[in-house]
Amino acid sequence: MTKPFYLTTAIDYANGAPHLGHAYEKVLADTIVRFRRMKGEEVHFLTGLDEHGQKVQQNAQKLGIEPQACCDQVAELFQGICKELQISNDDYIRTTQPRHVKVVQEILQKLYDAGEIYKADYKGFYSIRQEQFVLEKDKTPDGKWPELFGEVIEITESNYFFRLAKYQDWLRKYLEDHPDFIFPAFRQKNVVEFLKEPISDLCISRPKERLSWGIELPFDKDFVTYVWFDALTNYYSASLEKQCWPADIHVIGKDILVPPHAVYWPIMLHALGLELPKKIVAHGWWLSAGRKVSKTKTDADADAPKEKTAIELMRELGADAFRYFVMREMNVGQDSEYSEALYLSRYKSDLGNDLGNMVNRVLNMTGNYCGHVLPAATVCEALEQNLRELWEKTERQYQALAADFQFHTALDVLWNFVRELNRYANERAPWKLAKSEDPADRAKMETSLATMAEGLRLVAVAVTPIMPGIAAKIQTLFGIEAAEKFEGNLAWSDILVGKTFGEKAILFPRPDDGKAPKKA
Ligand code: MSP
Repeated sequence: MTKPFYLTTAIDYANGAPHLGHAYEKVLADTIVRFRRMKGEEVHFLTGLDEHGQKVQQNAQKLGIEPQACCDQVAELFQGICKELQISNDDYIRTTQPRHVKVVQEILQKLYDAGEIYKADYKGFYSIRQEQFVLEKDKTPDGKWPELFGEVIEITESNYFFRLAKYQDWLRKYLEDHPDFIFPAFRQKNVVEFLKEPISDLCISRPKERLSWGIELPFDKDFVTYVWFDALTNYYSASLEKQCWPADIHVIGKDILVPPHAVYWPIMLHALGLELPKKIVAHGWWLSAGRKVSKTKTDADADAPKEKTAIELMRELGADAFRYFVMREMNVGQDSEYSEALYLSRYKSDLGNDLGNMVNRVLNMTGNYCGHVLPAATVCEALEQNLRELWEKTERQYQALAADFQFHTALDVLWNFVRELNRYANERAPWKLAKSEDPADRAKMETSLATMAEGLRLVAVAVTPIMPGIAAKIQTLFGIEAAEKFEGNLAWSDILVGKTFGEKAILFPRPDDGKAPKKA
């Protein structure tokens, strides 16, 4: 039995509501798995919630509720947004679930028994916000702790340590031998750089008197597990039922690559004798006015002119448009700037004008000139021939770019084809041909409708992983069932001929941007 293609996202901290950054990561991951499924592969897709640790405990204290009750509320929000975004995850892990707690404790015990975990006194500086010990060398040139660390306190503690350092050379070698381990490639170079300096062993415990909200160490009930050790293990603990370890892809943001995913996690797995994930895809950040979109709003934000957030626009204009926007704008690995204006411009021009109007025109004309039944294409002149050839080229490029996570250019290439379809429609001008009594004009008119419809069907099939809802809607309006596989559905065909087309439909209604009054 071959194991399914196993893809995961980061698990979100249970300390606030989801925003564009979280939503983007889910859509990116979902797009990758939907491409795989369309190619006929079996997929297991995991996402979830990171429920332990100081951040969650502090947030619950602030709200005056129990940490678990707080996590339950946040889980509802995050699972809710996954549903809204049409995320097709097969599983949702929460790190307070017994299936996960059990595995974390087993792993800890195994490493402890093997001598990979030891107890030692540690005196040092600790960043409360980052939940980690920090070093003198982390200070800024003026001798202060970077703002990122928040409050830094000096503490002496007895703690448990995982022997990370002894695997440093092994990891360096592993990266040399697996140059494609991390995408994009320049991020792998960052890891190699990081490993040039000696790394320290990892403190994997927190005394309960300081932090009680965590997984108890199986060999010492006075301590709980460090949240990153606990959280990373989710990828493995959730894989057991499906027996789909190793993960094929971990999708994460660039901020959690070094050291957690690129250093701690590979070494943890190696020390346990488990296989490493095949690939880590580290995406960039969504920025707003140049700053990372995040949960914490600052005073500066409060003064900024009120923009609609991407999540608000998603609720107003639909999940498909959101998915298109983020995948079209973001070059995976780089940062991308969000603005309401950019979102609306993509919505109106790419979706409304280029795609939506075209579908609407085909439905309208098929209804008016052909009694809603799509006629056959009987003419094949250069105009039609060129389009077919362009499609073949487009489809090849689109698939190759998507396979390399270049979704933004893949969509650019696909939309170039959509715009060519529009140009074709304008050149053939079936609305003029329809007025002619000449049978040759009628044949051209019918041919143009069949050609436009087929072009749009192909676009719909191709764009299914990114806009599953709209793709299905177009195919349904064209009288066929939505394709569930690429195979057999991406070649130019006459499958739509004789099909009954639906009434005209507005796929992307005008946004309520306060500029244009809505048509009745
Ligand atoms: N709980 C940890 C991850 C543990 S994984 C074993 C965490 N949680 S998080 O809620 O802060 O972030 C979850 C994911 O969202 C991360 O991959 C992070 O990079 C991503 N994003 C959060 N803000 C983001 C943007 N502004 N833009 C894009 N993604 C960013 O880290």
